[in-house]
Parts: sequence; C-alpha cells; structure tokens
Amino acid sequence: MNILVTGGAGYIGSHTCVALLEAGHSVIVADNLCNSKADTLDKVKRITNKEITFYEIDVTDEAAVDRVFSNHHLDGVIHFAGLKAVGESVEKPIAYYYNNIVSTLVVVKICQEYNVKRFVFSSSATVYGDNTVPFVETMNLLPTTNPYGETKAIGERILTDIAKANPAFSISLLRYFNPVGAHESGLIGEAPNGIPNNLMPYISQVAKGKLKKLRVFGNDYSTVDGTGVRDFIHVVDLAEGHVAALDNITEGVHIYNLGTGQGTSVIELVKAFEEANGIEVPYEIVDRRPGDIASCYADASKAKRELGWTAKHDVKSMCRDSWRFEKNYKE
Ligand code: NAD
Ligand code: UD1
Repeated sequence: MNILVTGGAGYIGSHTCVALLEAGHSVIVADNLCNSKADTLDKVKRITNKEITFYEIDVTDEAAVDRVFSNHHLDGVIHFAGLKAVGESVEKPIAYYYNNIVSTLVVVKICQEYNVKRFVFSSSATVYGDNTVPFVETMNLLPTTNPYGETKAIGERILTDIAKANPAFSISLLRYFNPVGAHESGLIGEAPNGIPNNLMPYISQVAKGKLKKLRVFGNDYSTVDGTGVRDFIHVVDLAEGHVAALDNITEGVHIYNLGTGQGTSVIELVKAFEEANGIEVPYEIVDRRPGDIASCYADASKAKRELGWTAKHDVKSMCRDSWRFEKNYKE
C-alpha cells in the first residue's frame, strides 16, 4: 500500500516508517519539522535501504495537503502530526487546539475528497483519565488534566462522527501507553528539545551526565512501592502495532490500546535501567507532579484478538535501546 505518514520524521513516526517499509509498503512523509529533523528520514532510509518521499509541509495547510494527495495514489494515512508536550499545552492552549484539531480535520477532509478510506489516528491512554486499571477500550472516558489530552479526546470524537456519517471510512484510533526505547541500530530514537518532561529520556540524560539526578515525583501513591506505575512499550512494538492496524483495518471506527498490559513503577524502571546498562542513576524523591495519576496500564487483549498484535520487548530491552540511542546522540 501507499501510505501517507504525517509527522513521520518524529519519534514514533520514524519507527513506524521503518516498520511500514520493512513490511513492503511505500511511504510518503508530510512533516513541518517543528519537533524533528529531516536527517531522521535519511537514517530511516539507511536502516531499511528503501526510499521515502518527503514533503516539508504543515498539515494544517489544506492546499499543501491537497498537493500531496494529487501527486500520489494513496491507500491510507497514519496521522501522527501533532504537538505533544503536556506542560506546554497548558501555557499555549490555542497553539495545541489549533494544530492538533485543525491538522486532523484537514487531513481527514482531503481523505474524503480523494476517497482514501483507511485512517489511523495517534491517540493516547491519557483519554482514560483516572479510571481504574487496567484500562479497557469500552470504558467511559474521563476528563484529562490538560489541553493536550483534550485534543486527543476531541480528535477521537471527530473521527467517530465522521465514520458514522461515512460508513465507507475505516478508522483506527490507537491509544498509546508510554512509548520508550529506540531502534536497535541506535540511529533513531527520542530526542526531546530542552529538559525532558518524560521519564525515560530524563533517566537516559542523567545516565549520560547531562542532568544531575532524577526527581521521582511522589512515593506515596497506592502502588507497589509508592511511585507511579506506567505501561512502558517499546517504540518498535508500537510501530509494528500501526502496521497491524493498517493491515487489519475494516469499515467503521475501531479503538485499540497499544500497550504491554504490564505496569512498571518509576523505581522499578530506574532499577531495570541500572541493571540493563550497568550505570547508576542517582535520584531523589520530590513532591507529586500535578495532574499525574497513580497507575496507568492497558488491557491489551483487544489488539491481540483483532489485530494479532502483541508487544514483544521487555523493560530491559527498552532500557538498553534507549541508552544505546542516548549514548550515540549528538545535538
Ligand atoms: P514527535 O513530536 O516526535 O512527532 C510529531 C511529528 O509531527 C514531529 O516530527 C513534528 O515535526 C510533526 N508535526 C507537528 N505538527 C505538525 C504539523 N502541523 N504539520 C506537519 N508536521 C507536524 O511526537 P511522537 O512522540 O512521535 O508522537 C506522535 C504522535 O503520537 C503525536 O500525535 C502524539 O501526540 C501521539 N502520542 C505520543 C505519545 C508519546 O509518549 N510519545 C503518547 C501518546 C500519543
Ligand atoms: C505523560 C502525559 C501524557 C502523555 C505522555 C507522553 C501527563 C499527566 N501525562 O504521561 O498525556 O501522553 O506523557 O508524552 O503529563 N516521572 C518522574 N520524574 C520525571 C518524569 C516522570 O518521577 O522526571 C514519573 C511521573 O510522575 C509518572 C511516570 O514517571 O509517574 C511517567 O511519567 P511520564 O514519562 O511523564 O509519562 P506520563 O505522565 O505517564
């Protein structure tokens, strides 16, 4: 299939380009590089020894997106493009709502105009809010604590309404849990701008000596050791989940959790990182971070049942691959 990957130069997008190319699909990327670099796509080409067509465009620009669709016969779209920093979204709600909602509307509108029926959307486990774990696709969604999370909940609702009105559309809403790790080549991975907000990049930068020590946000949650519990998923597994979603897509709207189904606490992750890589990660316990929940992990059985997909990598390989990338990465 010819697949348009919006946001394909980013962290999850670039790994998904690798998985798509390895599965024999052709890939066209549309990315404005607001949070990525074009040389990531050169690395994807090096890893796969295959070509990618790249458009440096903003996917909120309808005319630019239209040009891509008119240049290619597309079979489907994976829509990753979006802004994703939770804290920044609280400070810049207009930018977040505008970019994340308008990009989705523009891309799906042009899909309809060109009769491109397969559409895969990057959603997030954040839409479950503070539900009881494990999170199941049938649960009622609860409010998130920030505009970023709301853009995902709204994106899901928009696409659900579009699927209802256009029964020929095949839409997959993929709710990612906590993607970590990197391609085993060490060439592509997560390279956040500035001081990382997320746990794994923070741990890796402490290990590298770039940051002094990890601050563990709270050890008084009702979890195994009091620290937050998350469902960390290797980004390569997540990427393969997108190929499975595309390959098995059917008419209507379908929601899938992409997680491992296993919860790991912050301290457990720190210990796993230390053991996997033989490096100490100094940390201190500080206050809880506002907006955090105690536990978040998936019931991952629907994706297994309907897509034949399960995550294969364990936490140790996530730690090893994250570190290999961080060690080699030069700004
Ligand atoms: P990322 O920032 O690495 O990738 C997003 C890409 O989209 C970047 O390359 C950026 O330049 C591009 N982009 C943003 N706005 C654009 C626009 N208007 N036009 C064209 N390109 C644009 O982020 P990621 O971690 O790869 O996340 C991909 C998607 O998955 C996002 O929608 C994100 O919200 C979602 N998601 C991520 C996580 C996570 O933990 N990383 C969790 C849940 C959901
Ligand atoms: C966060 C976002 C979520 C988003 C995801 C990926 C919030 C409330 N949620 O998820 O919407 O989809 O990132 O971008 O922000 N931690 C520390 N020290 C750190 C960093 C994190 O102890 O320096 C802890 C957190 O308190 C949490 C766990 O590590 O318990 C994971 O945090 P993080 O990696 O930021 O992901 P989430 O909060 O799960």
